[in-house]
Parts: sequence; C-alpha cells; structure tokens
Amino acid sequence: MALYPLLRPLIFTLDAERAHRLTIDALKLLPAGRSTLPHPRLAVEVAGLRFPNPVGLAAGFDKDAEVTGQMLGLGFGFVEAGTLTPRPQAGNPRPRLFRLAEDRAVINRFGFNNQGLAATSARLARRPRGAGIVGINVGANKDSADRIADYATGVRTMAPLADYLTINISSPNTPGLRALQDKAALDALLAAVLEARGDSGPPVFLKLAPDLEPQDIDDIAALTVGRMDALIVSNTTITRPALASRHAAEPGGLSGAPLKALALQRLRDFRAATGGAIPLIAAGGIASAEDALARVRAGASLVQIYSALVYEGPGLAARIVRGLDVLLAREGFASLAEAVGSAA
Ligand SMILES: Cc1cc2nc3c(=O)[nH]c(=O)nc-3n(C[C@H](O)[C@H](O)[C@H](O)COP(=O)(O)O)c2cc1C
Repeated sequence: MALYPLLRPLIFTLDAERAHRLTIDALKLLPAGRSTLPHPRLAVEVAGLRFPNPVGLAAGFDKDAEVTGQMLGLGFGFVEAGTLTPRPQAGNPRPRLFRLAEDRAVINRFGFNNQGLAATSARLARRPRGAGIVGINVGANKDSADRIADYATGVRTMAPLADYLTINISSPNTPGLRALQDKAALDALLAAVLEARGDSGPPVFLKLAPDLEPQDIDDIAALTVGRMDALIVSNTTITRPALASRHAAEPGGLSGAPLKALALQRLRDFRAATGGAIPLIAAGGIASAEDALARVRAGASLVQIYSALVYEGPGLAARIVRGLDVLLAREGFASLAEAVGSAA
C-alpha cells in the first residue's frame, strides 16, 4: 500500500477500465479481512446496524462483490457492492471510464455493467456472515419493460444476503432512470420495494443524484422519511463545473474533487428538508478526514468514497479513519454521533 505513489504513474499509463480490472484481480490475492474497532469513538449505529467506523466504500468499485472482504480488511467500516441488475448486462461500449487527473476527478458511463443477481448471490452466500457490513446496491436492466419490478426482484433476491440494500435511482447512465426520482414514480417504487423487503428484511437506503431542484428535494424528503432507513447523497453529477482535463466533455457522471461542493450542498439541503428525521450518508468528492468531518457536521452519519481511491491509493480508508478520530478528539467530541449535524 505504501508503494502506491510509486505505482500510480505506471497504473495511469493503462486504460482506466483495464487498470480497475487489474486492481480487483490484485486485491483478490489479499486475504479477506474484517473491519476492526481500533477507534471506539468512531463506531456509530445507523438503521439498527453497528458500523465499526463511518468510512465506507461507495457502490461501483466492487460491482460484483468480488473483494468485499479485502476492502473491509483495508479499513473500510462498510462496503457497498453493486449496482446489480436482475439479468447480467454488458453496459455501454468502451471506452466508458476516464481519469481526469488534473481535476482529481473521474467520468464514467458504464451503464450498469454487472454479472447479475444470480452470480453475485452465489458469491455472497459463500462469504462468512458477521465478517463486516456489506450493503447491496440494486438497479434496473436497461431494456427492462418494468423497472420497478426489477428493483423489487433485486430486493427480494438480495435481502437474505445483504446487511442493507440500496435502491439506486440516480445513475445518469441508464436513460430515464433518474425519472424514478419524480414524485409519483418514486411513491410507487418505494411501495414496491418495501413490500418486496417484507417485515424482517434488512434496512433499505435510497441513493440520490446531486442534480435536483429544491422542489424535488422537498418531495423526496416527504416521501422517504418514515419509509426509507437512510438517504445516500449523492451519486455522480451530469453537470460540468470548470474542468482542466481533455476528457472534460465526455458524456457520463462526474465524480471526485469537482463534485465536492455540489454534494456537500445537497447534503445540507436534505438535512434541512428532513430536519434530521432520517439518517444521511454522504458521498461525492470526499478525499480526507477533514472532508469526512465536514459531511458529518453537515448531517451525515456515514460517508462513502470512490474516486479519491484512484488518486490516493488503497491506504486511503485507513488514513481517513485515523485522521477522523484525531479531529473528533481535538474538537472535543466524545463520539461520532455527537458530531453528526453539529453544524446543521
Ligand atoms: C467508475 C464509477 C462507477 C460507479 N458505479 C456506480 C454504481 O454502479 N452504482 C452507484 O450507485 N454508484 C456508482 N458510482 C457512484 C459512486 O458510488 C459515488 O456515489 C460517486 O462516485 C461520488 O463519490 P466519489 O466522488 O467519492 O467518487 C460510480 C462511480 C464511479 C467513479
């Protein structure tokens, strides 16, 4: 892990998707670990689950749940696999993943490439339970005639295997998917998902786009409080703040440093709209312990990272965890929970 600064220039000469595949294959060589609890101050309970620390791996890195144990072993407090669709799917034509190194950003238009529910449930069924928190993020097939039914299928199939489920209606790379964030569609989707989950299933989180208007935010808040167990704010953006890289105009979702301000603002918006009545999970441009604490203070109980891993390497989660513990102590917080929303 300490070698990452040396390896990075080499990795960056490879096509981004190929580098990602090699990374997953290399991670498979590590022993599967489990998140430990060296920082009791950082343990936090959300939706009835006890997270050893609040720093999670965001969806999309380990879509097919190939290295969940290895990522927990690297220090993540939880790992979100997926997005998984009911049937396997090839996704969009390549190239579809771009590093924007000058901007510390990534653009992707994968379009839910994944091995499907059956392959991944078989893999997840083999993992030891109780070895750390693994959430499963589910979506709809691109050519599905009934997208809501796809989410219900994902929830029903994965409920016995997941510590939590995430309903992802915020990918910009499946045409029309984000329309499920609209009021009437969202209401129907939530009803179907909750019925599929049943009374004894795991908690269900909803993952949102940062590209929402104030009215959308109010509608989503009204529909989800009391029904969903947490909101994840946010997915990638289709907007393009000023970017320096030659890949800036590639279509797809933008993540990493240029998403940071927008994702923080949306987190604040959702905190204001929900008044703290539902747990919030922050994602988007988080790259340091300071970034993580800012989200916690704005109302997040947990944070997730992806793009910063590309630039900072696999040791990043452990560094953020250690740094966050130091920052909380310095600012006089006895526990993470005390800091949640302290700036809201
Ligand atoms: C290459 C790539 C693939 C992604 N795939 C998914 C996905 O399948 N499902 C999902 O919910 N989010 C996906 N995301 C979004 C991330 O989970 C996260 O919400 C977003 O990238 C913002 O966090 P970051 O700035 O730390 O990357 C993906 C992001 C990237 C960069």
